[in-house]
Amino acid sequence: MFLYIINWKMYFSFRTIGQFCQENYHGFIGLSKLENKKIILCPSHTVLIAISAIFEDFELEIGAQNCSAYMSGPYTGQVSAISLAQMDCTYCIIGHSEVREYFLESDQDISEKALRLLENKIVPILCIGENKENYGVETAKKFLFAQLEPVFKKIKDLGRIRLCIAYEPIWAIGTGVTPKNEYIEKIFEYIIEVSEKICPNTEITLLYGGSVNENNVKKMKSIRDLGGLLIGGASLDFKKFEKIVQL
Ligand code: PGA
Repeated sequence: MFLYIINWKMYFSFRTIGQFCQENYHGFIGLSKLENKKIILCPSHTVLIAISAIFEDFELEIGAQNCSAYMSGPYTGQVSAISLAQMDCTYCIIGHSEVREYFLESDQDISEKALRLLENKIVPILCIGENKENYGVETAKKFLFAQLEPVFKKIKDLGRIRLCIAYEPIWAIGTGVTPKNEYIEKIFEYIIEVSEKICPNTEITLLYGGSVNENNVKKMKSIRDLGGLLIGGASLDFKKFEKIVQL
């Protein structure tokens, strides 16, 4: 199954996301029926229930864009993994570079979030990626290891679980620039190597994210070991997103 994860970020408001889904309702339903392709919609927390209700009878999955590292308690403004599960979320993005940078999310927070999600049977979509200064396979590996290790160590004793890892080089997000496939393939090999060493029981799906669009998607889809794509900007235009899925 090839995954298409829509990260709508905070582009739509409560009203406009509803309109967008209604206007493109038949289009989304069409995409939900394609064989071996799974669409995962990740809107803001405020509309998770509404979106899940709109597409209730169809094979579209709902994901959140973040969750709390804590189970429950005095954490004002946070949303718990258990609430996400009750709102029909089956996936949740964690460790997105925007959250790491602007909200100072640490690797320790992210590993707790992964655990909370897995305890609630939600598949974490762990985002990792190096900044421009750390571009280059060997340097990037060190950077990525620091992001992967705390999460792998935290979940390694959970038995057979599923984890999506989205490799999103920070310099490729929203910039229109993408790495060469060979570069991504080397990074994927490394992620597999580290995961096999630390948590061999985890079933990993490897995703790529960062400036995927209708023009480069064919090239991106030929990346070895690729299990799906995480799409930001191009998901704001349904026609573009549809092309990405169909191509
Ligand atoms: P982009 O965003 O597709 O706009 O580069 C990807 C992401 O932030 O996950």
